[in-house]
Amino acid sequence: MNSVSALDKTRYAHSICAELRASHAGETGAVWIYRGILLVNRFKRDAEIDTFAKHHLATEKDHLIQFENLIHRFRGSALLILWMFAGFMMGVMSMLLGKNWVYYTIYKVESFVDVHYRQQIDALSKLEFLEKDEIISMMKMCNLDEQSHRDEALNGMTNKPGLAMRIWGNLVGTGSQYAVAVAKLL
Ligand SMILES: [Fe+2]
Ligand SMILES: [Fe+2]
Repeated sequence: MNSVSALDKTRYAHSICAELRASHAGETGAVWIYRGILLVNRFKRDAEIDTFAKHHLATEKDHLIQFENLIHRFRGSALLILWMFAGFMMGVMSMLLGKNWVYYTIYKVESFVDVHYRQQIDALSKLEFLEKDEIISMMKMCNLDEQSHRDEALNGMTNKPGLAMRIWGNLVGTGSQYAVAVAKLL
């Protein structure tokens, strides 16, 4: 899917940079969520989580590479280290709490990401910029993966989320919203 050229150094307009920066930050955070899960799972040794997280990590790394291929056209987030840390801690915390927490966290994150990608695709479709079609189709492909991650996580859940888990899920959703707003600016 490397159809987007890395040769042209043209910078995108401000609004397009903001969208790409937010997605780049999000994909970075996603990679680190799975790193956090897999670190704790070195001790917990849950084979199902191992397969789930390794498969998702590979996909998120692929998404991240695609945004990195475009990084000469926008400025990456100045807070990238914070998105890495937040993602990592989200992964660590959820895995410490248990398997269902991991699945619910991923379900909430990916539900948010799905809506966000669709909004971005919609917004970018109305603008004109270099390699627009390639970038929009790249985002659509990424979002197909995010939707299947979301559904896989939901299918992995063995019980309904209790109150504490729902509160955590809302925090994850709200946190993701704030992170996107901040990453668009910084
Ligand atoms: Fe992703
Ligand atoms: Fe994902």
